[in-house]
Amino acid sequence: MNISLAVSKIDSTLNEIIHEDLKILKDIKKYVIKSGGKRIRPLTHLLFCDLLNYKGKDQWIVGTIAELIHAASLLHDDVVDEADTRRGKKTVGVLYGNKTAILTGDFLLACGIERLNRLQNPAILDVFTDVIRQLSVSELLQMQWQKNPKITFEIYEKIIYGKTSSLFGAVTQTAALLAGQSSKQAEDYRDFGLLMGDVFQKRDDLLDYFTLTKNSGKDHLKDFSNKLYTYPILVLREKASKQDKALIPKIIESSNNKKIMELLTEYKIKEICFTELNEDIHELREFLTQFPESKSKLILNEQLSKLLY
Ligand code: FPP
Ligand code: MG
Repeated sequence: MNISLAVSKIDSTLNEIIHEDLKILKDIKKYVIKSGGKRIRPLTHLLFCDLLNYKGKDQWIVGTIAELIHAASLLHDDVVDEADTRRGKKTVGVLYGNKTAILTGDFLLACGIERLNRLQNPAILDVFTDVIRQLSVSELLQMQWQKNPKITFEIYEKIIYGKTSSLFGAVTQTAALLAGQSSKQAEDYRDFGLLMGDVFQKRDDLLDYFTLTKNSGKDHLKDFSNKLYTYPILVLREKASKQDKALIPKIIESSNNKKIMELLTEYKIKEICFTELNEDIHELREFLTQFPESKSKLILNEQLSKLLY
């Protein structure tokens, strides 16, 4: 598979699925297609379809629907998070207002569901409608635990499962379903996607605090200023001395950027977190060893390497 050709085919499928008359919807469609997103969800779906020898055209539709659900959720997410930038560009809320961001997010979601329905594949419809439900539940759960120092690691994992991993799980699971695997076999593929999504979200949470190779295009310390207890903070809480642990809620409450960065550095949280993530990536690579060597397997391994520190 050629990645840039695949990305342009995904973008032209997005162009077909999002049909619009109103000027604002045309603008949003252009915004989504030109967003600079990496299309990691549809690409992962296509790569798994290839590993499993599925050659049908529905892979383009299913992968693109996953991207569309993702794009819709980001329009809503930037309103919830009060984010000014995404991928280095102004958010739809900043450009057109939050009401427009919510309503156009609904529109994108509706386009995705409409196309999904036309596939006439109840198993795939089930998978994605469950994801949409999980996305909303987990955002509400996150909001409920915002600012609350009693949040546990289990609750955090539940939040990231719903907001990110479930969609990654859906793209690998539906690749297996399209390829004619049994629903039980498809669960193993879903598990791969779920773990990949966990790694992806935890890495995203680290990017809020630490700059890696290149700028993420998002506001720095946004999760921190939103008083969210995310991965690095929860690990810090585990590793810190009793005294320092007691300070964390106060530092978060007062948005003391300098102090939180000092503690994260002192306890080597970046290194600890990446060691954990690298172990997960190793597990993902192990899963791929069951497939014979191919271009798609190589690309998947390269994608996983990009998540390494
Ligand atoms: C990003 O997390 C959040 C999501 C991927 C899910 C957002 C879901 C909703 C707002 C519910 C509405 C759902 C639909 C389908 C319309 P993040 O804020 O940690 O990541 P970020 O740093 O990329 O913003
Ligand atoms: Mg966000």
